[in-house]
Amino acid sequence: MKQPWWKSAVAYQIYPRSFKDSNGDGIGDIRGIIEKLDHLQELGIDVVWISPLYKSPMDDCGYDISDYYAIDPLFGTNEDMYELIDEAKKRGIKIIMDLVINHCSDEHEWFQKALADPNCEEAEYFYFRESKDGPPNNWRSMFGGSVWENVGGDRYYMHLFGKKQPDLNWENPKLREKLYENIRWWLDRGIAGFRVDAIVHIKKEESLASHPADGDDGMCGLQGWARNTPGINDFLAEMRDKAFTGYDAECMTVAEAPGVALEDLKYYVGDNGFFSMLFDFTYSEINFWGLGWENARMKEDIPTTELRDSIFKHMEDAQKVGWTAVYLENHDYSRSVNKYLPTGDQRDYHGVTMLATMYMNLRGTPFIYQGQEIGTTNYNFKSIDEVNDISTHNHWGNWTAAGLPMEQKMYGLQYSRDQNRIPMQWTAGENAGFTDGKAWLPINENHVDINVESQKNDDNSVLAYYKKLVKARKESVVSEALSLGDFEPALLEDGEIIAYKRIGEESKAFVINNYLKEDHKVTLPCDVKSVVVSNYDDVALDGRELTLKPYQAIVFEI
Ligand code: GLC
Repeated sequence: MKQPWWKSAVAYQIYPRSFKDSNGDGIGDIRGIIEKLDHLQELGIDVVWISPLYKSPMDDCGYDISDYYAIDPLFGTNEDMYELIDEAKKRGIKIIMDLVINHCSDEHEWFQKALADPNCEEAEYFYFRESKDGPPNNWRSMFGGSVWENVGGDRYYMHLFGKKQPDLNWENPKLREKLYENIRWWLDRGIAGFRVDAIVHIKKEESLASHPADGDDGMCGLQGWARNTPGINDFLAEMRDKAFTGYDAECMTVAEAPGVALEDLKYYVGDNGFFSMLFDFTYSEINFWGLGWENARMKEDIPTTELRDSIFKHMEDAQKVGWTAVYLENHDYSRSVNKYLPTGDQRDYHGVTMLATMYMNLRGTPFIYQGQEIGTTNYNFKSIDEVNDISTHNHWGNWTAAGLPMEQKMYGLQYSRDQNRIPMQWTAGENAGFTDGKAWLPINENHVDINVESQKNDDNSVLAYYKKLVKARKESVVSEALSLGDFEPALLEDGEIIAYKRIGEESKAFVINNYLKEDHKVTLPCDVKSVVVSNYDDVALDGRELTLKPYQAIVFEI
């Protein structure tokens, strides 16, 4: 059976503000991306997801869109974008854009009209409510504080994210048609699909009623009434049919979809699902889920079995119904080597490459986040003043209001979303080769030894290893197994390793990762034919007895 192209693709995420600046204003742009396309081609990337480039007041760095059809001048022009699509195509790379349609910007003309005239058509595109005694309900926004903002008198509007991100009212059919029109307009310009932002929030419980408080602020989270809410499937099915379907090369859609119930997964990513794949959050937020950044766990407090089981659970759930995406990083997190490796090992070559091997061979389309391919580590934020991110500032304000000690606030600050927005480290030179001007966020001092230029011609670099992993997925004796094969957990009785099989129709692979920084003996559950990739030169295998070296990772043909 012919499989859609995106199943065997390797994806890369670009956060455009921080990728490459071409005009010296300290902010990355489209011409900067064009300059660096060769890097992506050499890495073997098939498809690039670029975080929002649309016109925006940049309150949430572009996730607050004021014109869905125009590129923001900060990033370039629409012509630059079309050129990028063409230049990428020449290198065999497809582009997917970010689709931010749960909300827009308060500076979008729809919202401006709605503010000016409560009876106009556009007022129905948003959630405006009248309330005499304070906010219409007690829902807490994703960035902290009430979801309601007063616009004078008794009139409020709802924003599940920042104040400048009013939620769009999906109950309104005219609004939905406008959004679909925009989606098709971009697909007609040659993009290959979308990463779909915050999509699980588009349906709100119709009563908009208050719910029991779950915190001292008297407010409640959104789960159940404004996240994965009954009725959402109708909207998603309509969007699939009216906007995403009907293109020759099947469009790739990846949903940002935390908390989708197991029984709904088939509708999301099953046959003719709403999306091609989704981002699961269980393993990516394993360090702070339910705790907050200020109480986040370090790897040494997260048992390897817990990490393994949460990844494997998503693998098995997704496999029962369809396809998914796999990733360790994106623009909303801190660096994976800090999150998933014990303190002190962030720059351990074997640790870093073990992590890469562990996730890049899972069953799903792998996403590499910019900088991950060179083992970029967290920056050490010295004060809140070094941070731009709206959600970090909101958290900081809440921590201060709650009287948290400075030490704990500084601890939480290191989990800021700005960690992964620190500029890409291209060279050891000034500003890490990112800009000729002053970068919009601090440059990590360690760019002098972690950078693309120095790793490019070094066969023993993290970058060279990532290239090997991508190649194994595409042209090796087990490429069919690694890209399309079934997932089967292995050696579950050993809590210190993460091992699994990939069973294809033409080939089979066995992937084993030693999460210990010491030698570790295992008995393999099967005979092996050859070593496809390993992060050590030698593999100590005697029959089925394998002695893994510290953080050793191996992909075998079986
Ligand atoms: C998603 C984005 C995040 C943004 C939010 C609101 O979670 O990944 O960066 O702030 O949606 O659009």
